[in-house]
Amino acid sequence: MTTDTPPGNSTDNATNNPADTPRILAFAGSARSASLNKQLARAAAESARRQGADVTLVDLRDYPAPLYDGDLEEKHGIPPAIRQLKTLFAAHHGLMIASPEYNGFITPLLKNTLDWISRSDGDASGLALFEDKLAVILAASPGALGGMRSLQTVRQLLTNLGVLVLPNQVSVPRAGQAFDDTGQLTDAALNKRLDNACAALCRHLRCLQA
Ligand SMILES: Cc1cc2nc3c(=O)[nH]c(=O)nc-3n(C[C@H](O)[C@H](O)[C@H](O)COP(=O)(O)O)c2cc1C
Repeated sequence: MTTDTPPGNSTDNATNNPADTPRILAFAGSARSASLNKQLARAAAESARRQGADVTLVDLRDYPAPLYDGDLEEKHGIPPAIRQLKTLFAAHHGLMIASPEYNGFITPLLKNTLDWISRSDGDASGLALFEDKLAVILAASPGALGGMRSLQTVRQLLTNLGVLVLPNQVSVPRAGQAFDDTGQLTDAALNKRLDNACAALCRHLRCLQA
């Protein structure tokens, strides 16, 4: 997956729209080029766009950061890519996160990225970037459970950070066979579930932004 909007330009994209347009930042917790979760994040982004949202879809591969280490932070400060992500977080009220499942948990990439974003940068609080955000969480896996165990961890982590995570969530089992050539989910019921989750996020964001 490539980033839809290049880092740095995304905020312009978001602020040119009417105030009540839901602004959503979407990404997957995988850097892998053939990531199933990137496919799911893209399908969700397209669903939300069809429902009137302004969605910025980013690829965490474009935002590399070292494994969090307090000594590194003290010496070098916040990594430049994380600063860019912080700017994107500040410009969007909604989050759509597709989380791979590693041994029942979230990926180190997703945890590390969120940990870095949560850190203060000078006087700018990191945790403030999560306050009053709404999120829909998604998972895709080649396995039969669709990565749903990782969603418990994502929900808990985001909640700890101050994000309101919607009850709607979607996990896609046997995800290697779940998407058609256009990137849509082939299973109609699952597709409807994804549309409903995106609709709920848009609806709640419109209330929040009204
Ligand atoms: C270290 C590791 C642990 C994994 N553990 C699980 C697991 O607990 N449950 C599961 O459904 N898949 C598990 N998988 C398989 C991943 O779901 C699969 O690699 C998936 O494609 C990763 O997401 P991505 O395609 O978005 O990169 C694991 C993969 C790795 C590398």
